[in-house]
Amino acid sequence: MNEMKQMANWVIVELQRNSPNWTKVVEDIVRIEKKIFPKHESLARSFDEELKKRNSGLLYSEIDGGDVAGYVMYSSPSSLSASIAKLAVKENCRGQGHGEALLKAAIQKCRTRSVHRISLHVDPSRTPAMTLYKKLGFRVDNLIEGYYSSDRNAYRMYLDFDGN
Ligand SMILES: CC(C)(COP(=O)(O)OP(=O)(O)OC[C@H]1O[C@@H](n2cnc3c(N)ncnc32)[C@H](O)[C@@H]1OP(=O)(O)O)[C@@H](O)C(=O)NCCC(=O)NCCS
Repeated sequence: MNEMKQMANWVIVELQRNSPNWTKVVEDIVRIEKKIFPKHESLARSFDEELKKRNSGLLYSEIDGGDVAGYVMYSSPSSLSASIAKLAVKENCRGQGHGEALLKAAIQKCRTRSVHRISLHVDPSRTPAMTLYKKLGFRVDNLIEGYYSSDRNAYRMYLDFDGN
């Protein structure tokens, strides 16, 4: 895949708290979040708090005009493990490589924090996401029944780094 070519019109950016576009970026993300995820699964109301957590970060992909096409939230609470808390791409921006570039960038961020394992939870019915996670090397750990709600399960998935 030619990443340079794919990324000609957009760029992956790390959200900084003191950035002048913080409000606009968070508003964009909350709008996307509300459209894609059911209310109780949505971080829309708790975004600020999530981002204040130690060692958590957010990367977004910015398209022409400064709009957000997608975002990934990660956290690494210890030096041993990290997690991907959220990954989403706006519907009309899908299939252009944003999701894969965001996930790769988040993995890179976690790696530099000397983490050995990255884990995440995903609804098994989210086929595009499952396929993307597997493509980048994540494996299914186990099924957690009732993770999202009484009738919605999750796969826990993980990616291990081999000691470097
Ligand atoms: C999952 C998601 C982030 C993918 O974003 P995207 O920008 O469309 O993905 P990309 O264009 O980077 O595609 C990368 C890979 O993802 C997989 N993929 C993407 N769309 C897919 C689809 N419709 N069906 C199957 N696999 C798909 C493929 O492996 C693809 O690689 P390929 O092009 O070599 O086949 C996006 O579909 C999304 O936001 N879904 C809703 C939210 C969600 O489910 N989030 C994860 C749970 S928190």
